[in-house]
Amino acid sequence: MKDFHGRIAVVTGAASGIGRELALSCARAGMSVVLADVDEEGTAATGELLAPLLAPSGAAALSVRCDVSKDEQVRELSERAFERFGAVHLLFNNAGVGVLGPAWTTTAEDWQWVLGINVMGVVHGIRHFVPRMIAQNGEGHVVNTASVAGLVSVPGSSVYCVSKHAVVTLSECLHHDLRVAGSTLGVSVLCPAYVNTGIADSDRNRPQELRATNPHASEYDIILRRALLAGKLTAADVAAVTLEAIAQERFYVLPHGKIKAAIETRMRDILDDRNPTNTVPVGAKGEPR
Ligand SMILES: NC(=O)c1ccc[n+]([C@@H]2O[C@H](COP(=O)([O-])OP(=O)(O)OC[C@H]3O[C@@H](n4cnc5c(N)ncnc54)[C@H](O)[C@@H]3O)[C@@H](O)[C@H]2O)c1
Repeated sequence: MKDFHGRIAVVTGAASGIGRELALSCARAGMSVVLADVDEEGTAATGELLAPLLAPSGAAALSVRCDVSKDEQVRELSERAFERFGAVHLLFNNAGVGVLGPAWTTTAEDWQWVLGINVMGVVHGIRHFVPRMIAQNGEGHVVNTASVAGLVSVPGSSVYCVSKHAVVTLSECLHHDLRVAGSTLGVSVLCPAYVNTGIADSDRNRPQELRATNPHASEYDIILRRALLAGKLTAADVAAVTLEAIAQERFYVLPHGKIKAAIETRMRDILDDRNPTNTVPVGAKGEPR
């Protein structure tokens, strides 16, 4: 999809971080934007930032409260988007959360919460938007936000890594399915490394009934926060790289190029029958290396 002007984008997780910047980039490119999130205050703040960018092109924004882990709410999101704008050309399945801690101390609630949003949120987005986007029979693109954590395995991040590995393969399967079906719809999987956003405070939106979390999460928390602060790219940089990749119809979007060495090491471990190398800066006890 090369021409963004006058098109319609839907962004989940639009109230903060990468999702907010994706929405702003779309607005700057002349697109109307549907902002979806559970955080209504944050979504309203994104809407305010968007307004002056939309005005020159006559584009519009629509804010929808949507919990992407709920099939019914994503169905409603899709209905409202198509009702309001008559089409959707760009779908960003971006909402995501994380938990930390050694695999054996994770709780059932950690898994239910994170997989519900990071994996099922993307599944619901694909099921409720893609059939209608295919039927439009024109240009369109789906971007699923995974992570470098979907391409390597990180100590203290089993729940998050499982969810993001799932998003990578789901996106690859979607790409194959669309090509086999002869659809013109494009797919990208966005795999950033550390970006300083609200991700370390994901718990702020965690539902009461799924609050029970890994008691050892805090041991890794300081490491994550340090890594996020040291991140070389901003959320705005990541959004800019993503729009470029869409225009180039590039599937794998890895804004942090240096991380490819870690991905290569993992692949070599597999191909050379080696045990997994710890390629991220976390030691055996979770201390920074
Ligand atoms: N920040 C990083 O270092 C990094 C790296 C790789 C991938 N990612 C991924 O980028 C995506 C965006 O995260 P971010 O870093 O901008 O974090 P963020 O916390 O700033 O933004 C995440 C957004 O998702 C929303 N959200 C949470 N639960 C939701 C739900 N059930 N339904 C709808 N929205 C919900 C939050 O309200 C928030 O607005 C996530 O998928 C994350 O896993 C982030």
